Amino acid sequence: MDIQVLGGSYIKGTVQCSGAKNAAIPLICASLLAKGKVLLRNVPRISDVFDICQILRYLDCRVIFKGHTMLIDNVNLKYKPLFFDECRRIRGSYYFIGVFLALFSKCEIWLPGGCKIGARPIDVHLQAFTDLGFTYHIEGNILTLYKTTTNEVATIALAKPSVGASMNALFAALSLSKVTILHGLFEPEGMDVITFLKEIGYPIFYTQEGLFYEKARLEFKLVKHTVIPDRIEAFTYVALGLLKGDVVVKRVNPKDMQYPLEVLKDAGYQLLIKDNEIHAKKSYGKPMLLKTGVYPALPTDIQSIFGVLFLNTIGTSQIEETIFENRMQIYTDLIQSGVECRIEGNKASVLGTTIIHSKEYKAYDLRHGAALLLLALLGDGESKISNFEYVLRGYDDIIHKIKSLGGKITIL
Ligand code: EPZ
Repeated sequence: MDIQVLGGSYIKGTVQCSGAKNAAIPLICASLLAKGKVLLRNVPRISDVFDICQILRYLDCRVIFKGHTMLIDNVNLKYKPLFFDECRRIRGSYYFIGVFLALFSKCEIWLPGGCKIGARPIDVHLQAFTDLGFTYHIEGNILTLYKTTTNEVATIALAKPSVGASMNALFAALSLSKVTILHGLFEPEGMDVITFLKEIGYPIFYTQEGLFYEKARLEFKLVKHTVIPDRIEAFTYVALGLLKGDVVVKRVNPKDMQYPLEVLKDAGYQLLIKDNEIHAKKSYGKPMLLKTGVYPALPTDIQSIFGVLFLNTIGTSQIEETIFENRMQIYTDLIQSGVECRIEGNKASVLGTTIIHSKEYKAYDLRHGAALLLLALLGDGESKISNFEYVLRGYDDIIHKIKSLGGKITIL
């Protein structure tokens, strides 16, 4: 999908944040672990969610997705090898591994896809599964796992901080009687999944020391859960307000984005933060020196957005990407748009400016595409963004939301 964006329009209005992509995907997978129907609210209508739903239907589950509410009935769930195109298209399909190990003690799946922002191995996931008593082998792009020990108690330590591996280890751990998981990384989205698993009936306790689980009988019941707001989507619209006008972002949880909001306030940007809304007005900040890191540090998913936000600084800001190896595309686009910017490996510096030359851009991944949209809205003329379908993987109704704020976007 290609879009055309006319820069220069004043952006003003209110935007409702949707449910978090990176919570909704594991929540939908985890719904297979419930002993009854699951009703999920505030589910974002994004292509990654549609793909996950299609995989559930392949597994003979009933999924009704109306508006932002989803009813999942897993009563007819059957084990099948997960050899579906949808598994290769997205990264989040790997959550089916942990869920299948919990339910069937085995799994055959095509290795996951997802944004090409680095090598994105799954070695930490595989080590956790091994420590929990499973064996795996990979032939071509097929990963096969099965239980080879009868141990019911385990204490595992994740080899490195990994959002996906922590969640997958927790799912697989539910097949044992008693498990401790050390060094898990549970960001707000992971905490939302832990809350959901406890609502299903899994006794899980998560403290600074670790995550503790002990098997208990599950009741047959309808489980209702509301997906937390998407903090990355919210930050994207906050940045748009700071760059281009006056935006009130509603249905957000500022507590989930404390650090990046503090960075903006310390830099002098105009932000009014309330319990579940953020009001961002066009303003300029002092230069910033930033580095991405694991929660609660600066999220890697807003690194490219910050790259564009640096244009509204009085001076030169710097940022370093420490999570993924290949997530610096936006800085090349800034240079090609006439911005004074330097890239050195995973570090970049940007000199603030108001002169942005519109041009043709190509989105390489979801968050790069969103940053390109902000850049195009700042441009001095017409821009074109190709591969915009990447953005639709993670931003619910973004074209309509930006148009409702006064942005001029045409789908080509
Ligand atoms: C999740 O990716 C998110 N994706 C990413 O969001 C997000 O950027 C990332 O967490 C960090 O917050 C989903 O939730 C579907 P990791 P994930 O495992 O789980 C390395 C977006 O735009 N690693 O925490 O893949 C890995 O390569 C997406 O919404 C291993 O080496 O992230 C990376 O360098 C992009 N071995 C680092 O760890 C492993 O087994 C962090 O990865 C696993 C990860």
